[in-house]
Amino acid sequence: MLRLRGSWGQHHLPHQTRAPQLRGVDPVVGQAVQHRSPEEEQSPEQELEQTERESIAVVQQWALNWSVEHLWTTDEGKRIALSYFHERGFTDATIKTFQLGYVPDQGNAFATAAIANGFNPDMLEKAGWIKRREDGTPWDFFAGRVTFPILGLSGQPIGFGARTLKSDKKLPKYFNSPESILYNKSRSLYGIYHAKKSIVEQGLCYLVEGYTDVISLHQAGITNVVASSGTSLTEDQVRLIKRYAPTVSILYDGDAAGMKASLRGIDLVLKEGLNVKVVTFPEGEDPDSYAKGHSSSEVKAHLTENAKDFLAFKAELLMADSGNDPVKKAAAIHEIVESVSLVPDLVLRSLYIQQCSSLLQVNEQAPDQRDEQVLRKQYRKKLGGDAAPTEERLAADIAAPQPTVEDLGTTPQERDLLRMLLSYGHERIMVPIQAEDGSTTEEESSVAELMFELLAVDDILFDDVLFREICRITATPATSAPPWMRSATSVMNRKVGAPPRSTYSRRSTY
Ligand code: UTP
Ligand code: MN
Repeated sequence: MLRLRGSWGQHHLPHQTRAPQLRGVDPVVGQAVQHRSPEEEQSPEQELEQTERESIAVVQQWALNWSVEHLWTTDEGKRIALSYFHERGFTDATIKTFQLGYVPDQGNAFATAAIANGFNPDMLEKAGWIKRREDGTPWDFFAGRVTFPILGLSGQPIGFGARTLKSDKKLPKYFNSPESILYNKSRSLYGIYHAKKSIVEQGLCYLVEGYTDVISLHQAGITNVVASSGTSLTEDQVRLIKRYAPTVSILYDGDAAGMKASLRGIDLVLKEGLNVKVVTFPEGEDPDSYAKGHSSSEVKAHLTENAKDFLAFKAELLMADSGNDPVKKAAAIHEIVESVSLVPDLVLRSLYIQQCSSLLQVNEQAPDQRDEQVLRKQYRKKLGGDAAPTEERLAADIAAPQPTVEDLGTTPQERDLLRMLLSYGHERIMVPIQAEDGSTTEEESSVAELMFELLAVDDILFDDVLFREICRITATPATSAPPWMRSATSVMNRKVGAPPRSTYSRRSTY
């Protein structure tokens, strides 16, 4: 199959369609050339795999060149496909950069050309370019469609998306290449080859839904953008992004389905330890349509001005949904806390937990606020109770945050404990320990660990179900949970009234 190596340069295309030549990279296959010593001989099976991989890679590159040529140089291509791209607002430069192409609407034009060129029909089928009827005659899977090549990390085509140009609603709008030994959907990101440099430079990766979103944003000057096209976001895709940047910003359509999808996406990204932001678009707009209707600077401004931290986004969405219903509110808080608990990094997690605590209004202002209310009452009494409130006092009343936690029926002591746990739980302190002989030593501990141990000694559990739940979730060990979380979990898992842990032997001097 590798006999096509010599065919480079046969096509006189109006632009470059070759994968850039990199040192140590096979110019045709586009993959790192593997140098093996004689001892590392491949098994026959591995050799077959290697051959198939290389064969499909050659098919994909040849097919890319063929489809690009048919877009630019044939009547049908120019009249139907090139004009379609222009109508979409894609410039020639953009069409060339993304190596968009066209497969004529003739049933088997591609199959005929490819087979005449010496390709094995089995390989063409595995690569997803042809299908065969019962009698074995081939037909073009992408006939009458414009093509979007999906490139691997070094720029080699590994698969394709293909959009129909017919308005027939019964036809699927997009076809995608099947998976092959070369193309693993859940590990590929559309646009990664063109985006990776800019993702590294910006430390940020925009994640969109599809081919056209990537291309339109790129044309608007936003080049750090990829799509999880064809699948919903996977762990492998998130890990791929993580190789290039610590932050991902998820761009979603302004509809309810888009929002829900983004909540799912968020949890996945959080679990991998990336920072997550979310940008939404006005109702009915996707990044592609927005980029078409706005100038490049407007698009850039929209992305920066509307980037919300995931927690704020999720909280706003869920809290808005639950209105003043305390049960719904509790469920919303539960869900937010659950997302936070996925963050593997302790420092980041405690930052989120702090944010979470302020959302719950279990914040630093809480005691002051109580004091203020007491003072205000005393002040009113002093004025004679029914005296008309001054403008200043009214303003202060309006400005004071509503104590929602109290609406949920929580005792102030529990709230204060939780506040300390959320705000300072991760901080390390030295705890004086008194030994049997009366001597005192110091042991390092986290505030949370100490709190949980002291609570355990006195057999205290939070009364408030919601608070107990927050403790349980925040205390659930992540992959490498620090000791305070492990001890917290063991305490939280104990039933009310269970005897104190027999292993407990420390006596702090507190
Ligand atoms: P759209 O439906 O907006 O595609 O989906 P479009 O080509 O822009 O169509 P029109 O012109 O608005 O009607 C947006 C993205 O979702 C992916 C594609 O990547 C597309 O760019 N998509 C859509 C699919 O993968 N498969 C589909 O069947 C539909
Ligand atoms: Mn669209």
